[in-house]
Amino acid sequence: MSRKLFVTTALPYANGNFHIGHIMEYIQADIWVRLQRMLGHEVNFVGADDTHGAPIMIAAEKAGKTPQQFVADIAAGRKPYLDGFHIAFDNWSSTDSPENHQLAKAIYLDLKAAGLISSKVIEQFFDPEKAMFLPDRFIKGECPKCGTKDQYGDNCESCGAVYAPTDLRNPYSTLSGAKPVLKSSEHFFFKLSDPRCVAFLEEWTQDGRLQPEVANKVKEWFTVRTNPDGSTSEGLGDWDISRDAPYFGIEIPDAPGKYFYVWLDAPVGYLASLKNLLDQRGQSYETYMADPQLEQYHFIGKDIVTFHTLFWPAMLKFSGRKTPDKVFVHGFLTVNNGEKMSKSRGTGLDPLKYLGLGMNPEWLRYYLAAKLSGRNEDIDFNADDFMARVNSDLVGKYVNIASRAAGFLAKRFGGKLADVSGDGDALLEHLRDASANLAELLAEREYGKALREIMLLADRVNEYVDQNKPWELAKQEGMDSHLHDVCTVCIEAFRLLTIYLKPVLPALAAQVEAFLRVGPLQWSDAAKALGAGHVIGEYKHLMQRVDVKQLEALFEPPARAESAPTAMESVAPGGEELAPTISIDDFVKIDLRIAQIVNCEAVEGSTKLLRLTLDVGEGRTRNVFSGIASAYQPADLIGKLTVMVANLAPRKMKFGVSEGMVLAASHGDEKAQPGIYVLNPWPGAQPGMRVR
Ligand code: 2FM
Ligand code: ZN
Repeated sequence: MSRKLFVTTALPYANGNFHIGHIMEYIQADIWVRLQRMLGHEVNFVGADDTHGAPIMIAAEKAGKTPQQFVADIAAGRKPYLDGFHIAFDNWSSTDSPENHQLAKAIYLDLKAAGLISSKVIEQFFDPEKAMFLPDRFIKGECPKCGTKDQYGDNCESCGAVYAPTDLRNPYSTLSGAKPVLKSSEHFFFKLSDPRCVAFLEEWTQDGRLQPEVANKVKEWFTVRTNPDGSTSEGLGDWDISRDAPYFGIEIPDAPGKYFYVWLDAPVGYLASLKNLLDQRGQSYETYMADPQLEQYHFIGKDIVTFHTLFWPAMLKFSGRKTPDKVFVHGFLTVNNGEKMSKSRGTGLDPLKYLGLGMNPEWLRYYLAAKLSGRNEDIDFNADDFMARVNSDLVGKYVNIASRAAGFLAKRFGGKLADVSGDGDALLEHLRDASANLAELLAEREYGKALREIMLLADRVNEYVDQNKPWELAKQEGMDSHLHDVCTVCIEAFRLLTIYLKPVLPALAAQVEAFLRVGPLQWSDAAKALGAGHVIGEYKHLMQRVDVKQLEALFEPPARAESAPTAMESVAPGGEELAPTISIDDFVKIDLRIAQIVNCEAVEGSTKLLRLTLDVGEGRTRNVFSGIASAYQPADLIGKLTVMVANLAPRKMKFGVSEGMVLAASHGDEKAQPGIYVLNPWPGAQPGMRVR
């Protein structure tokens, strides 16, 4: 039966670009969503920017922007990451949207009507210069225990003491340097300590919907709680959900100058993004949410479990709304043996740099998936391990199967598949039998286990090829039918493996679908076969190997800026003076196009040139010679996109006619600074697109 699923990932703060930790979470969720869709289920998968709160308000002020402009600028940068890593959210919205303002207020009013909102006057530090209450992280001072200077308001980095900001000696505001004063103000609280909430949460968190390790941790919070000053109290405490103006947030109904604390409206953003999506489609949000069959799932990191397993379900429950079916908690990602990620030290993995280097996003999807499990344990990205796994599993085991069979099928049998019998049939049965177990592992987010199983299946297929040796059969008389049989088994096995890998490798699967000449593969297609007589398309190389040079470049620390020249000094960028100014009319005469390098080979008799076969979307290919042999191996370039001058007059060269020119960068003084760098467009560009 088809299920109806609503899936989210945690909403990222709109104060910075995505880092690799965000991308990991999105890939984890995207794989799960793609699996569910392949199983025939209906999924709405949404995200949004988490826009509110004091840190964003302050960052916007520093940047000289309104908070609205600040978060809009961040939002505008999201697409290259999401498209680049094939993360297919159905919608990306914002917690500052009209839908979120309206829903957050409605939920609050429902909680108030249920008698679960209280108010209390509390005393807090206030910055008299900025005329605002100070969140703890903007207060520093001397540790009350050991006297170390410049410690934050909650704990001392030197002696480890835990305390309240009001305990600090000589406190100061990090915003203005002013000495904060204590000021009282009325705050609103969500009464989590109400017996109704406690009873509900004790049941909800322990009924099997949470991962066991998460449920155990949550259980502790029902008996003991740590207060800001380090002391402990019994059970769940009430939750302070209001902040005073100035605050970038949603104003609380009937409480002028009071705003919802960012964490109150952040998860409401899940619903708001869904509503925004359904509105765009002309569907009713109310009807959708009222369906008792609807299942709701949140993917989150282990640092925000409290919000998602206590506050959020209680808010939903007591405002009369549906509560999440499951909260899937993952661990953190470290890079290269747990070194803390830091851009300046170059140990981080910058997702856009990864894409910019032309590294295949599906390598990363595969590698992260291979490390992920259903538990919330931390995982490490290790560069050597990454290269070894991708090259050996994806290229060496999986893609290899197609490349071993496709050539013979095309040359000897016109691409037509045969009827399969005997050994091959048993092998294919074995592959088909794995389908249910693999779907279950993937649905349980046991991606690592699933991929190990899939690679074992690929091993079996490669063993079968080694035993049957199609390359020898091809040379023997009267072995045509056996050769045909073996190659057909390979292609069918490859199709099955592609189905199983498709949630992880969607773009590669699309290439395979085109090669096999089949429609979008569904999970149920594993029970079927292509059948004798089906004609497959031309095999094109499906995936490059990871090159160690790419990894070196990925982790190379950013170059230090050289000391800037004075205004009087003339600069020859890249070792040569700029060419004389041209007009735009001059520029448009040059027709630059995106070209796909469909083939590349060395040129016999030349140490400088490579022969490129380029697809510029014209329905034919072009032959272009390029003097880049010193910098690239032909195999590095096959399949890549680049930029070419497409209207250059054809030039007759010693080795043939060159029908254009590919663009590459080099230093003006090639001897002093050798190196040639072929241009590579950002992901998403298509062959034939004009560069302007
Ligand atoms: O921790 C964070 O990055 C938060 N912005 C996550 C919010 S998740 C949801 F509640 F919006
Ligand atoms: Zn101290």
